[in-house]
Amino acid sequence: MLKTVVSILVLALSATTSFAADKMLADRHMERGGKCEACHTTMPPKAVATQQCLVCHGSYDKVAARTDKNDINPHDSHIENPDCTSCHRGHKKPVLLCDECHEFRELKVP
Ligand code: HEC
Ligand code: HEC
Ligand code: HEC
Ligand code: HEC
Repeated sequence: MLKTVVSILVLALSATTSFAADKMLADRHMERGGKCEACHTTMPPKAVATQQCLVCHGSYDKVAARTDKNDINPHDSHIENPDCTSCHRGHKKPVLLCDECHEFRELKVP
């Protein structure tokens, strides 16, 4: 009985992790009916400017308000308005710019 419960828990956990790891930011945007052109204004596609993300996400202040509940707000710190793609990546694993110097384990970049 206990064994079954444990393995169900493990299954549920690995399912969540692999979902998060499999789906890159661009794919998640495409699934919502987005188009490549929403982010890429040039052909062939190139790195995406922060300004392009803000066409939909409004402003740095707006994004910061969404993560204000965190002890450490990744969008409001002594690093003033870094490019979105210094953490969020389109088609590869995201990184946390802050961790070049800190170790904020509680912050997971989506
Ligand atoms: C065409 C509009 C549009 C553009 C351009 C856009 N986004 Fe989004 N983004 C959305 C929508 C809609 C959502 C889902 C609703 C929400 O969370 O705001 C979203 C969600 C997100 C999320 C939350 C995680 C997730 O997948 O739900 C992050 C992070 C994000 N966007 C980052 C970015 C970055 C970085 C860029 C630029 C490289 C960008 N977005 C460009 C529309 C856009
Ligand atoms: C220093 C790294 C970093 C930078 C730069 C950054 N983000 Fe984020 N972002 C994060 C982290 C970490 C989270 C997850 C925070 C959390 O779990 O509450 C996040 C979450 C988000 C979310 C989801 C918020 C929610 O409601 O859960 C959106 C949308 C987003 N970022 C958009 C942007 C946009 C647009 C930019 C550029 C203007 C940007 N981010 C720049 C690290 C960053
Ligand atoms: C949410 C925004 C977003 C969407 C939607 C998106 N991309 Fe991207 N793309 C990026 C970002 C950001 C980069 C910069 C590298 C990275 O972060 O992966 C990039 C990089 C690229 C590159 C490499 C350019 C270079 O010189 O490194 C190609 C090719 C590309 N995208 C193609 C596409 C295609 C094709 C689609 C539609 C199926 C698409 N992208 C949809 C954000 C997006
Ligand atoms: C180039 C190195 C560097 C980067 C990158 C960096 N920081 Fe810092 N940060 C420091 C230093 C140095 C201090 C001051 C010494 C200290 O208190 O640790 C500091 C202090 C802080 C503090 C106050 C002290 C604490 O630890 O509570 C916060 C909060 C903070 N940083 C958040 C961030 C966030 C969020 C990011 C990413 C957006 C970031 N930092 C990126 C170097 C950096």
